[in-house]
Amino acid sequence: MKTKEALLKILADNKGRFISGETLSEKLKISRSAVWKHIEGLRKEGYMINAVTRRGYKMGVHQDVYNRHAIASQLNTTVFGRNLIFYDEIDSTNNELKRLAANGAAEGTVVVAEAQSCGRGRRGRAWNSKPGLGIYMSVLLKPDIAPEYVQVITLAASSAVCSAITPFIDIKPGIKWPNDILIENKKVCGILTEMSAEPEKVHSIIVGIGINVNHREDDFCEELKNTATSLRCFSKSDISRCMLAARVLEELESLYLDFVLNKSADKLLNIWRCFSVTIGYDIIIYRNDKAIKARALDVADNGNLLVQTQDGRRQLISSGEISIRLT
Ligand code: BTN
Repeated sequence: MKTKEALLKILADNKGRFISGETLSEKLKISRSAVWKHIEGLRKEGYMINAVTRRGYKMGVHQDVYNRHAIASQLNTTVFGRNLIFYDEIDSTNNELKRLAANGAAEGTVVVAEAQSCGRGRRGRAWNSKPGLGIYMSVLLKPDIAPEYVQVITLAASSAVCSAITPFIDIKPGIKWPNDILIENKKVCGILTEMSAEPEKVHSIIVGIGINVNHREDDFCEELKNTATSLRCFSKSDISRCMLAARVLEELESLYLDFVLNKSADKLLNIWRCFSVTIGYDIIIYRNDKAIKARALDVADNGNLLVQTQDGRRQLISSGEISIRLT
Protein backbone atom coordinates (compact mmCIF):
# COMPACT_ATOMS: atom_id res chain seq x y z
CA MET A 1 0.00 0.00 0.00
CA LYS A 2 1.35 3.45 -0.90
CA THR A 3 1.99 5.90 1.94
CA LYS A 4 -0.86 8.16 0.88
CA GLU A 5 -3.29 5.24 0.77
CA ALA A 6 -2.06 3.92 4.12
CA LEU A 7 -2.42 7.36 5.71
CA LEU A 8 -5.96 7.69 4.37
CA LYS A 9 -6.83 4.26 5.72
CA ILE A 10 -5.63 5.15 9.23
CA LEU A 11 -7.48 8.48 9.21
CA ALA A 12 -10.63 6.87 7.80
CA ASP A 13 -10.54 4.01 10.32
CA ASN A 14 -10.39 6.67 13.04
CA LYS A 15 -12.90 9.18 11.65
CA GLY A 16 -13.83 11.75 14.29
CA ARG A 17 -10.81 10.89 16.49
CA PHE A 18 -7.44 12.61 16.72
CA ILE A 19 -4.32 10.61 15.92
CA SER A 20 -1.00 12.10 16.87
CA GLY A 21 1.67 12.93 14.30
CA GLU A 22 3.98 10.66 16.26
CA THR A 23 1.67 7.64 15.96
CA LEU A 24 1.25 8.29 12.25
CA SER A 25 4.97 8.62 11.70
CA GLU A 26 5.57 5.32 13.54
CA LYS A 27 2.85 3.45 11.69
CA LEU A 28 3.86 4.78 8.29
CA LYS A 29 7.59 4.66 8.97
CA ILE A 30 8.10 8.23 7.77
CA SER A 31 9.17 11.41 9.56
CA ARG A 32 6.62 13.70 11.20
CA SER A 33 7.36 16.39 8.62
CA ALA A 34 6.67 13.84 5.86
CA VAL A 35 3.34 13.07 7.60
CA TRP A 36 2.55 16.78 7.53
CA LYS A 37 3.41 17.01 3.81
CA HIS A 38 1.12 14.10 3.00
CA ILE A 39 -1.67 15.67 5.08
CA GLU A 40 -1.24 18.92 3.13
CA GLY A 41 -1.42 16.95 -0.13
CA LEU A 42 -4.64 15.28 0.98
CA ARG A 43 -6.14 18.60 1.97
CA LYS A 44 -5.33 19.98 -1.48
CA GLU A 45 -7.24 17.03 -2.94
CA GLY A 46 -10.26 18.13 -0.92
CA TYR A 47 -10.04 15.93 2.18
CA MET A 48 -11.15 17.79 5.31
CA ILE A 49 -8.49 16.97 7.88
CA ASN A 50 -8.31 18.88 11.11
CA ALA A 51 -4.82 19.54 12.52
CA VAL A 52 -4.47 20.66 16.16
CA THR A 53 -1.16 21.21 17.93
CA ARG A 54 -0.34 18.46 20.45
CA ARG A 55 -3.44 16.44 19.49
CA GLY A 56 -2.66 15.52 15.92
CA TYR A 57 -4.90 14.97 12.93
CA LYS A 58 -8.60 14.16 12.64
CA MET A 59 -10.75 13.31 9.64
CA GLY A 60 -14.38 14.44 9.82
CA VAL A 61 -16.99 11.70 10.33
CA HIS A 62 -18.73 12.62 7.07
CA GLN A 63 -15.61 12.55 4.89
CA ASP A 64 -16.09 10.42 1.77
CA VAL A 65 -12.79 8.60 1.41
CA TYR A 66 -12.63 7.19 -2.08
CA ASN A 67 -9.74 4.92 -2.98
CA ARG A 68 -8.92 1.28 -3.62
CA HIS A 69 -8.75 0.32 0.01
CA ALA A 70 -11.97 2.12 0.97
CA ILE A 71 -13.89 0.33 -1.79
CA ALA A 72 -12.28 -3.06 -1.17
CA SER A 73 -13.05 -2.90 2.54
CA GLN A 74 -16.78 -2.48 1.75
CA LEU A 75 -16.87 -5.19 -0.88
CA ASN A 76 -18.50 -8.54 -0.32
CA THR A 77 -17.91 -10.40 -3.58
CA THR A 78 -16.15 -13.56 -4.65
CA VAL A 79 -14.88 -12.58 -8.12
CA PHE A 80 -15.63 -8.93 -8.91
CA GLY A 81 -13.06 -6.52 -7.58
CA ARG A 82 -10.77 -9.18 -6.11
CA ASN A 83 -8.33 -7.40 -8.42
CA LEU A 84 -9.31 -3.76 -8.01
CA ILE A 85 -7.23 -0.97 -9.51
CA PHE A 86 -7.84 2.63 -8.55
CA TYR A 87 -6.54 5.68 -10.42
CA ASP A 88 -6.72 9.29 -9.36
CA GLU A 89 -7.09 10.00 -13.08
CA ILE A 90 -7.09 7.88 -16.21
CA ASP A 91 -8.16 8.54 -19.81
CA SER A 92 -11.10 6.12 -19.53
CA THR A 93 -11.62 3.15 -17.22
CA ASN A 94 -12.90 1.18 -20.23
CA ASN A 95 -9.71 2.00 -22.17
CA GLU A 96 -7.51 1.01 -19.24
CA LEU A 97 -9.35 -2.25 -18.72
CA LYS A 98 -9.00 -3.00 -22.43
CA ARG A 99 -5.23 -2.56 -22.08
CA LEU A 100 -5.17 -4.76 -18.97
CA ALA A 101 -7.29 -7.42 -20.71
CA ALA A 102 -4.79 -7.47 -23.59
CA ASN A 103 -2.14 -8.30 -20.96
CA GLY A 104 -4.18 -11.19 -19.55
CA ALA A 105 -6.15 -9.53 -16.69
CA ALA A 106 -8.49 -11.95 -14.95
CA GLU A 107 -12.28 -12.00 -15.07
CA GLY A 108 -13.73 -9.68 -12.46
CA THR A 109 -10.87 -7.18 -12.64
CA VAL A 110 -12.27 -3.76 -11.82
CA VAL A 111 -10.85 -0.35 -12.70
CA VAL A 112 -12.15 2.67 -10.80
CA ALA A 113 -11.08 6.27 -11.34
CA GLU A 114 -11.58 9.45 -9.37
CA ALA A 115 -11.61 11.30 -12.70
CA GLN A 116 -11.41 10.50 -16.42
CA SER A 117 -9.70 12.81 -18.88
CA CYS A 118 -11.45 11.16 -21.83
CA GLY A 119 -14.57 9.48 -20.41
CA ARG A 120 -16.55 7.89 -23.22
CA GLY A 121 -20.31 7.52 -23.63
CA ARG A 122 -22.33 5.58 -26.19
CA ARG A 123 -22.45 6.71 -29.81
CA GLY A 124 -19.07 8.45 -29.57
CA ARG A 125 -20.28 10.94 -26.99
CA ALA A 126 -18.11 12.17 -24.11
CA TRP A 127 -18.98 11.28 -20.51
CA ASN A 128 -18.56 14.07 -18.00
CA SER A 129 -16.06 12.69 -15.47
CA LYS A 130 -15.12 15.42 -12.97
CA PRO A 131 -13.29 14.37 -9.79
CA GLY A 132 -14.99 14.18 -6.42
CA LEU A 133 -18.53 13.71 -7.68
CA GLY A 134 -19.25 10.58 -9.65
CA ILE A 135 -18.43 6.89 -9.94
CA TYR A 136 -16.51 5.88 -13.05
CA MET A 137 -15.71 2.19 -13.12
CA SER A 138 -15.37 -0.77 -15.44
CA VAL A 139 -15.56 -4.52 -14.91
CA LEU A 140 -13.91 -7.18 -17.05
CA LEU A 141 -16.00 -10.27 -17.88
CA LYS A 142 -15.15 -13.42 -19.79
CA PRO A 143 -18.45 -15.29 -20.02
CA ASP A 144 -18.92 -18.47 -21.99
CA ILE A 145 -21.87 -17.10 -23.98
CA ALA A 146 -22.65 -16.49 -27.64
CA PRO A 147 -21.96 -12.89 -28.76
CA GLU A 148 -25.67 -12.21 -29.37
CA TYR A 149 -26.22 -12.39 -25.59
CA VAL A 150 -23.96 -9.46 -24.84
CA GLN A 151 -26.99 -7.21 -24.45
CA VAL A 152 -28.11 -9.31 -21.47
CA ILE A 153 -24.93 -8.27 -19.68
CA THR A 154 -25.82 -4.64 -20.26
CA LEU A 155 -29.31 -5.22 -18.86
CA ALA A 156 -27.75 -6.97 -15.87
CA ALA A 157 -25.63 -3.88 -15.26
CA SER A 158 -28.55 -1.46 -15.40
CA SER A 159 -30.62 -3.74 -13.13
CA ALA A 160 -27.71 -3.98 -10.69
CA VAL A 161 -27.23 -0.22 -10.60
CA CYS A 162 -30.95 0.36 -9.97
CA SER A 163 -31.02 -2.16 -7.13
CA ALA A 164 -27.89 -0.62 -5.64
CA ILE A 165 -28.94 3.04 -5.83
CA THR A 166 -32.54 2.61 -4.65
CA PRO A 167 -31.74 2.45 -0.89
CA PHE A 168 -29.80 5.72 -1.17
CA ILE A 169 -32.62 7.81 -2.65
CA ASP A 170 -36.24 8.68 -1.93
CA ILE A 171 -37.55 7.81 -5.38
CA LYS A 172 -37.61 4.78 -7.69
CA PRO A 173 -35.18 5.00 -10.64
CA GLY A 174 -36.26 3.85 -14.10
CA ILE A 175 -34.42 2.13 -16.95
CA LYS A 176 -34.96 3.34 -20.47
CA TRP A 177 -34.13 0.42 -22.73
CA PRO A 178 -31.49 -0.76 -22.96
CA ASN A 179 -29.53 0.86 -20.16
CA ASP A 180 -30.07 4.55 -19.48
CA ILE A 181 -30.97 5.00 -15.83
CA LEU A 182 -33.30 7.90 -15.29
CA ILE A 183 -34.78 9.74 -12.35
CA GLU A 184 -37.65 12.07 -13.16
CA ASN A 185 -36.75 11.66 -16.82
CA LYS A 186 -33.15 12.86 -16.37
CA LYS A 187 -30.13 10.61 -16.77
CA VAL A 188 -28.33 9.60 -13.60
CA CYS A 189 -26.26 6.70 -14.94
CA GLY A 190 -24.94 5.49 -18.29
CA ILE A 191 -23.46 2.12 -19.21
CA LEU A 192 -20.98 1.48 -22.00
CA THR A 193 -20.55 -2.21 -22.81
CA GLU A 194 -17.74 -3.15 -25.18
CA MET A 195 -17.09 -6.64 -26.45
CA SER A 196 -14.19 -8.39 -28.08
CA ALA A 197 -15.47 -11.51 -29.88
CA GLU A 198 -15.29 -13.86 -32.83
CA PRO A 199 -18.55 -14.75 -34.60
CA GLU A 200 -19.17 -17.70 -32.26
CA LYS A 201 -17.16 -16.82 -29.16
CA VAL A 202 -16.87 -13.95 -26.72
CA HIS A 203 -13.30 -13.18 -25.65
CA SER A 204 -14.11 -10.46 -23.17
CA ILE A 205 -16.73 -7.91 -22.28
CA ILE A 206 -15.99 -4.62 -20.56
CA VAL A 207 -18.89 -3.06 -18.70
CA GLY A 208 -18.26 0.62 -18.00
CA ILE A 209 -20.55 2.31 -15.52
CA GLY A 210 -20.79 6.05 -14.96
CA ILE A 211 -23.02 7.27 -12.10
CA ASN A 212 -23.70 10.90 -11.23
CA VAL A 213 -23.55 10.68 -7.44
CA ASN A 214 -22.85 13.83 -5.47
CA HIS A 215 -23.33 16.47 -8.17
CA ARG A 216 -25.37 19.49 -7.25
CA GLU A 217 -27.25 21.25 -10.01
CA ASP A 218 -24.43 23.73 -10.56
CA ASP A 219 -21.93 20.93 -11.16
CA PHE A 220 -23.57 20.18 -14.52
CA CYS A 221 -22.65 22.35 -17.49
CA GLU A 222 -25.44 24.31 -19.21
CA GLU A 223 -25.68 21.68 -21.93
CA LEU A 224 -26.44 18.90 -19.42
CA LYS A 225 -28.58 20.78 -16.90
CA ASN A 226 -31.88 19.82 -18.52
CA THR A 227 -31.02 16.19 -19.23
CA ALA A 228 -28.76 15.01 -16.39
CA THR A 229 -29.29 14.62 -12.69
CA SER A 230 -27.51 13.03 -9.74
CA LEU A 231 -28.41 10.83 -6.79
CA ARG A 232 -27.56 13.73 -4.44
CA CYS A 233 -30.51 15.66 -5.89
CA PHE A 234 -32.81 12.92 -4.46
CA SER A 235 -31.10 12.12 -1.18
CA LYS A 236 -30.84 14.15 1.99
CA SER A 237 -27.04 14.19 2.06
CA ASP A 238 -23.88 13.24 0.20
CA ILE A 239 -23.61 9.55 -0.66
CA SER A 240 -20.52 7.45 0.07
CA ARG A 241 -19.15 6.57 -3.34
CA CYS A 242 -17.12 3.63 -2.08
CA MET A 243 -20.15 2.12 -0.40
CA LEU A 244 -22.24 2.61 -3.52
CA ALA A 245 -19.53 1.29 -5.88
CA ALA A 246 -19.27 -1.80 -3.67
CA ARG A 247 -23.06 -2.34 -3.71
CA VAL A 248 -23.14 -2.03 -7.52
CA LEU A 249 -20.36 -4.62 -7.88
CA GLU A 250 -22.12 -6.99 -5.47
CA GLU A 251 -25.47 -6.71 -7.26
CA LEU A 252 -23.82 -7.10 -10.65
CA GLU A 253 -21.78 -10.11 -9.60
CA SER A 254 -24.85 -11.83 -8.23
CA LEU A 255 -26.89 -11.30 -11.43
CA TYR A 256 -23.95 -12.14 -13.69
CA LEU A 257 -23.09 -15.39 -11.92
CA ASP A 258 -26.75 -16.42 -11.87
CA PHE A 259 -26.91 -15.79 -15.63
CA VAL A 260 -23.73 -17.63 -16.61
CA LEU A 261 -24.07 -20.54 -14.18
CA ASN A 262 -27.77 -21.22 -14.79
CA LYS A 263 -27.64 -20.21 -18.45
CA SER A 264 -30.82 -18.25 -17.89
CA ALA A 265 -31.48 -14.51 -17.91
CA ASP A 266 -34.92 -14.92 -16.27
CA LYS A 267 -33.95 -13.53 -12.87
CA LEU A 268 -32.15 -10.46 -14.13
CA LEU A 269 -34.76 -9.72 -16.80
CA ASN A 270 -37.49 -9.77 -14.16
CA ILE A 271 -35.56 -7.21 -12.12
CA TRP A 272 -34.94 -5.20 -15.29
CA ARG A 273 -38.71 -5.26 -16.06
CA CYS A 274 -39.47 -3.94 -12.54
CA PHE A 275 -37.38 -0.85 -13.23
CA SER A 276 -38.24 -0.49 -16.92
CA VAL A 277 -39.81 2.75 -18.05
CA THR A 278 -40.01 1.45 -21.61
CA ILE A 279 -42.15 -1.72 -21.52
CA GLY A 280 -45.81 -0.89 -22.06
CA TYR A 281 -45.04 2.62 -23.35
CA ASP A 282 -45.32 4.19 -26.78
CA ILE A 283 -41.90 4.88 -28.23
CA ILE A 284 -40.30 6.32 -31.33
CA ILE A 285 -37.62 4.19 -32.97
CA TYR A 286 -34.94 6.03 -34.90
CA ARG A 287 -33.38 3.83 -37.55
CA ASN A 288 -31.40 5.05 -40.58
CA ASP A 289 -32.78 8.60 -40.21
CA LYS A 290 -36.36 7.26 -40.09
CA ALA A 291 -38.68 7.67 -37.12
CA ILE A 292 -41.10 4.78 -36.53
CA LYS A 293 -43.85 4.85 -33.90
CA ALA A 294 -44.28 1.66 -31.89
CA ARG A 295 -45.40 0.22 -28.58
CA ALA A 296 -42.72 -1.52 -26.48
CA LEU A 297 -44.16 -4.91 -25.46
CA ASP A 298 -41.39 -6.80 -23.68
CA VAL A 299 -37.72 -7.63 -23.52
CA ALA A 300 -36.56 -10.92 -25.07
CA ASP A 301 -34.18 -13.54 -23.63
CA ASN A 302 -31.25 -12.00 -25.50
CA GLY A 303 -32.09 -8.48 -24.30
CA ASN A 304 -33.66 -7.32 -27.56
CA LEU A 305 -36.77 -5.19 -27.33
CA LEU A 306 -40.05 -6.64 -28.64
CA VAL A 307 -42.11 -3.90 -30.23
CA GLN A 308 -45.34 -3.61 -32.17
CA THR A 309 -45.42 -1.00 -34.90
CA GLN A 310 -48.58 0.87 -35.85
CA ASP A 311 -49.36 -1.54 -38.70
CA GLY A 312 -49.63 -4.33 -36.10
CA ARG A 313 -46.35 -6.02 -36.98
CA ARG A 314 -44.18 -7.28 -34.13
CA GLN A 315 -40.39 -7.19 -34.30
CA LEU A 316 -37.36 -7.56 -32.10
CA ILE A 317 -34.89 -4.70 -32.12
CA SER A 318 -31.33 -4.63 -30.85
CA SER A 319 -29.76 -1.53 -29.37
CA GLY A 320 -26.93 -1.41 -31.91
CA GLU A 321 -29.29 -0.54 -34.75
CA ILE A 322 -31.53 2.06 -33.21
CA SER A 323 -32.14 4.67 -30.58
CA ILE A 324 -35.51 5.18 -28.96
CA ARG A 325 -37.40 8.05 -27.43
CA LEU A 326 -40.25 7.74 -24.98
CA THR A 327 -43.31 9.62 -26.22
C1 BTN B 1 -23.66 6.41 -21.98
O1 BTN B 1 -23.39 7.14 -22.95
O2 BTN B 1 -24.80 6.40 -21.50
C2 BTN B 1 -22.62 5.52 -21.40
C3 BTN B 1 -21.72 6.25 -20.44
C4 BTN B 1 -20.68 5.33 -19.81
C5 BTN B 1 -19.69 6.08 -18.97
C6 BTN B 1 -18.77 5.16 -18.24
S1 BTN B 1 -17.81 5.98 -17.01
C7 BTN B 1 -16.85 4.56 -16.79
C8 BTN B 1 -16.61 3.96 -18.16
N1 BTN B 1 -15.47 4.58 -18.79
C9 BTN B 1 -15.79 5.28 -19.86
O3 BTN B 1 -14.99 5.92 -20.57
N2 BTN B 1 -17.11 5.21 -20.06
C10 BTN B 1 -17.76 4.39 -19.07
